[in-house]
Amino acid sequence: MDRFLIHDRSEIVVGRGIDHVLPPSERRTAALIVAQPSVAALATAMAAALDVPAQVEIVPDGDAAKTLAVAETLYEAGNVMGLTRHDTVIGVGGGAVTDLAGFVAATYLRGVESVLVPTTTLAAVDAAIGGKTAVNVGGKNLVGAFHLPSRVIVDLDVLDALPVPVRREGLAEALKAGLIGDRSLLGVLESDGIDAPLDEVVPAAIAVKVGVVNDDLTETGRRAILNYGHTAGHAIELAAGISHGDAVAIGMVVAGRVSRLVTGFDDEDRQREAIERLGLPVAAPDCDPTEIVRLVHLDKKRDRSGLRMVLLQKIARPVVETVAEPVLAQGLDVVGVEYPPR
Ligand SMILES: NC(=O)c1ccc[n+]([C@@H]2O[C@H](COP(=O)([O-])OP(=O)(O)OC[C@H]3O[C@@H](n4cnc5c(N)ncnc54)[C@H](O)[C@@H]3O)[C@@H](O)[C@H]2O)c1
Ligand SMILES: [Zn+2]
Repeated sequence: MDRFLIHDRSEIVVGRGIDHVLPPSERRTAALIVAQPSVAALATAMAAALDVPAQVEIVPDGDAAKTLAVAETLYEAGNVMGLTRHDTVIGVGGGAVTDLAGFVAATYLRGVESVLVPTTTLAAVDAAIGGKTAVNVGGKNLVGAFHLPSRVIVDLDVLDALPVPVRREGLAEALKAGLIGDRSLLGVLESDGIDAPLDEVVPAAIAVKVGVVNDDLTETGRRAILNYGHTAGHAIELAAGISHGDAVAIGMVVAGRVSRLVTGFDDEDRQREAIERLGLPVAAPDCDPTEIVRLVHLDKKRDRSGLRMVLLQKIARPVVETVAEPVLAQGLDVVGVEYPPR
């Protein structure tokens, strides 16, 4: 079993089997369990095993759950149950549910305890770690709060049973963690690809994120390095309508080339091979390049500076640099996106 702590008050436990879901508390009277349809059975079993009365609320699958309307149904469930400030919201599912349950916990009664049980590799190595919660309003994750869960429980038996495409999503983020912060994690993913043992990969990827978050909880500085591959990645995800993991893989290819041009990063080919080894894409599907560039700049506008990107100087040595348009164009070119005339 591996155990991590964020700011001495948020515990992350990685192991096999789920026990001790709730941290000890004298005053807790009930728990509200928020779960996806795919893990309803797990949530029901969990409710039966808790030492306080618990109610299970099944929310729509995927990001359809991350809305204020769904959050409101959960607040109302809390009202009907008579949930108090000393009670707990438990999120069981992928990142969509851990984001939603965390958001409801952050806001209901001005904040109650949350416990998260991520059941996808992506939620385990990324979404459930670090206290960012959100719902989508207009754009993705535009309404949210920082709210650290008191406990996160990662059951590797659940993750091992995931369908390969869901497993791969999270391994894209684990690869990112290796590239920005852990050479040996990168090595495991390079040698075993999609079959890499989760007992090694998941704790190592969590350790990278925990290290960064402990330095910078509310994203004023260093936490930005977690966005490696995400500038172009997000834009391609939206423009092409592909999965987040695939988009981040392509975004890392872009960032790899930009890194080579800006910092002299000399492991661009190694990075590309690691991405391919996981069965992740290294080129963008056919989509509108004008839209991609518009989306990249939309990101930038919110930042008010020039286009800033996370780049690698070397493996495990990330930097944030301002990137000129022609350099970004060369990065996009590598994934088959021809920079449109502006
Ligand atoms: N808060 C953060 O820091 C952060 C970071 C990264 C991503 N996110 C968010 O996470 C979400 C994506 O997370 P995700 O990829 O886990 O998506 P998801 O929650 O939509 O889950 C993906 C799919 O896996 C299914 N699933 C979940 N557990 C399963 C199981 N045990 N067996 C079989 N199927 C299962 C789900 O039903 C869903 O269809 C996005 O909303 C994203 O914005 C948040
Ligand atoms: Zn991501």
